[in-house]
Amino acid sequence: MANIAFISPKGGAGKTTAALALALGLAGRGQKVALIDSDPNKPLVQWGALPGRPAAITVHAAPTIQDIRDAVREARRHEPEWVIVDTEGSVRGAMVFAALRFDLVITPLTASQLDAAEAIKAGQMVDSFGKRAGNRLLHRCLMTRVPAAIRPRSLKTVVEQLRGAGIEILPAALIEKEAFRLFFALGGGFETLEADGVTGLAAARQNTDAFVDAVIATLDDATAAAPRETATAGR
Ligand SMILES: Nc1ncnc2c1ncn2[C@@H]1O[C@H](COP(=O)(O)OP(=O)(O)OP(=O)(O)O)[C@@H](O)[C@H]1O
Ligand SMILES: [Mg+2]
Repeated sequence: MANIAFISPKGGAGKTTAALALALGLAGRGQKVALIDSDPNKPLVQWGALPGRPAAITVHAAPTIQDIRDAVREARRHEPEWVIVDTEGSVRGAMVFAALRFDLVITPLTASQLDAAEAIKAGQMVDSFGKRAGNRLLHRCLMTRVPAAIRPRSLKTVVEQLRGAGIEILPAALIEKEAFRLFFALGGGFETLEADGVTGLAAARQNTDAFVDAVIATLDDATAAAPRETATAGR
């Protein structure tokens, strides 16, 4: 089972959208996913209450960080291969990485200077926590709401800035697409949107797939980089 958290000290960075896109992409590959909604506004719980939720995805509310362990325990009854935690966009919400043994912590951000500063802060927070706990925590930034047609100059600047600060970025970005907003209005996933007559889904679907690939590759690379640890744990 892989545990993934989406965190950012800044609100509106794209956490909930990315968490749902990842869940839908994984479910599309036949994986069982538990979404833990740790935002008091409960956007994923509300999405889950709409018609069309794929059966492979369950949603569990964890209004406070203290509730996360209980929510994961409840989620485990469905034997998920993936646990994905969405959090409130605040420093308090971001602290979720301390609540569970996460395999990957993702901070989404748009190509803006203001987002970059907050994402660097999040990466450093996760890093210093991991070091203090003697357990390096894997952290990646996810560029999101990137225009599909052109790569803006601000994207290049932000990427360089993150790299300069030693913050790593997932090898796939999420593009700005109406479909990613419509999931929350109509419920369900790509099939639901298709049945609803939403056009232009192919690009969003393909993009979601590339995002899922990037997450899996990042986890695989991390496992390959720590073979001794894995071998010892397996004995
Ligand atoms: N890839 C995308 N394409 C189109 N719209 C997007 C995309 N990602 C996010 N959005 C929109 O941007 C806004 C913020 O996204 P989202 O709610 O996912 O961010 P968040 O980090 O979860 O916010 P909060 O901190 O408030 O929980 C929403 O209106 C959402 O629909
Ligand atoms: Mg959110």
